[in-house]
Amino acid sequence: MSAAVESTGPDARTVLGRVRAHLSPGLALVYGMNGAGAVESCGDGARIVLSDGRSALDFGSYAVTLLGRGHPEVLRAVRGELESMPVSTRVLANGTTAGFAAELVAYTDPGRLTRVWLGLNGSDAVEAALKLARLATGRTRVVAVEGAYHGKSLGALAATWNRRYRQSLEPLLGGVVHIPADPGAVPGAFAEEDVAAVIVEPVQGEGGVRALPSAFLAALTAAARAHGAYVIADEIQTGLRRCGERALSVAAGLRPDAVLFGKALGGGVQPLSAVVATEELYGPLATDPFVHTTTFSGHPLAAAAGSAALRAVEELAPRGERLSGLMAEGLRRIAHRHTGLVTEVRGQGLLWGVEFGPHGAAGDVLLELSRRGLVVSPCLGQPEVIRLLPPLVATDEEVEEALDLLDATCAAVPDEFRSAARNASDDGSAPRDRLPEDGALTGPAGGPGTGAEGPATARHTASGASVPGPCRVR
Ligand SMILES: Cc1ncc(COP(=O)(O)O)c(C=O)c1O
Repeated sequence: MSAAVESTGPDARTVLGRVRAHLSPGLALVYGMNGAGAVESCGDGARIVLSDGRSALDFGSYAVTLLGRGHPEVLRAVRGELESMPVSTRVLANGTTAGFAAELVAYTDPGRLTRVWLGLNGSDAVEAALKLARLATGRTRVVAVEGAYHGKSLGALAATWNRRYRQSLEPLLGGVVHIPADPGAVPGAFAEEDVAAVIVEPVQGEGGVRALPSAFLAALTAAARAHGAYVIADEIQTGLRRCGERALSVAAGLRPDAVLFGKALGGGVQPLSAVVATEELYGPLATDPFVHTTTFSGHPLAAAAGSAALRAVEELAPRGERLSGLMAEGLRRIAHRHTGLVTEVRGQGLLWGVEFGPHGAAGDVLLELSRRGLVVSPCLGQPEVIRLLPPLVATDEEVEEALDLLDATCAAVPDEFRSAARNASDDGSAPRDRLPEDGALTGPAGGPGTGAEGPATARHTASGASVPGPCRVR
């Protein structure tokens, strides 16, 4: 099916030029390569449409678009709020925000996690939870896990494992130790009695889609409890049915003192994160609500989106189970067909990682996938792994299409594109070795003028769906 897209925005070259001039030259380079010179225009369901009329399946977006793009109930809720009270006075109570807090409490671990602090980014939630733990205990030490990713703001960064993001900023928040995900390493972390909290992702998403062993999680949480330290479950990526459960830590009976949500919580429409905590951990904020505030905490537009998102996620949960099965089966098939190139596939629910053996192959595959019509995410802490994050709204056919694209791309490694890809850029001038060495920003080029945008991309056309906003699919 062919379709044309009319965009009323600036052309792609202008957009990329502005990114290069005013945001980041490195990002301009990467965006240009990923889009083969095009930029994102609009999206609908599991698909996005690019400025040159191509469409792509969005199985990436760093786990934000769990409900796809433009979920109608989320849009309806946000539009309603937009017309009434889009920002709060912050000196009066807001019904939408209070209602969402009550819904989130009922959703997560009713009766136990009864308090909510709202932020916009995942790292906001991490900061708030770490501050609460320190205030509530009067202690300073935090135990985190090797491979962890908890964000890049200064406090959260101290709990993030990857030295690449940390080393030039040290000393960071003091007292954070990282231990291996091994039950044997747990007692040593509590040798000193001043641990305020442990912070842990049940599945490390940015760390390469690694599920932490249940024996380790049990040992860590038991030791925390025995030593009077709080357990913070960072489910910013795994929660809200991304991994099948509302919160993996709650479902596993770990009884966390706080569950952190983010990413998909705003329904793929608004930025939103949350700390859902026990009365005890939340105590310092109950005593003094000004001990941790931000201007947009509890933003009504985001809260409206969050309420609609919780309902939508639950309605679609059975669909997630089916799609998870398709992903598991398809990825295993692909791993089998491309042994050597693909060294492992792992994941659960709608969070899947594909690990590549040859150095640099993951970046090459990620770029080629986006040129062929499948957007996936890299792993910020594990450059040899790409993440596939299908939305709950994907059809069976869209999942099969994504798996076929991955299969075909793996079959094309390395001959078809690797050499051409190494030297191109968004404007054909910057070599690959000028790229930042970030997992998110590596990969070969395939920009305009490389000739790479021909047959591989032509077979992916717009979905034909009616897309609201500044561009229309005809
Ligand atoms: C588990 C986890 N925690 C925290 C964060 C930080 O979230 P944000 O980038 O929204 O600040 C992320 C982001 O990837 C994450 O995956």
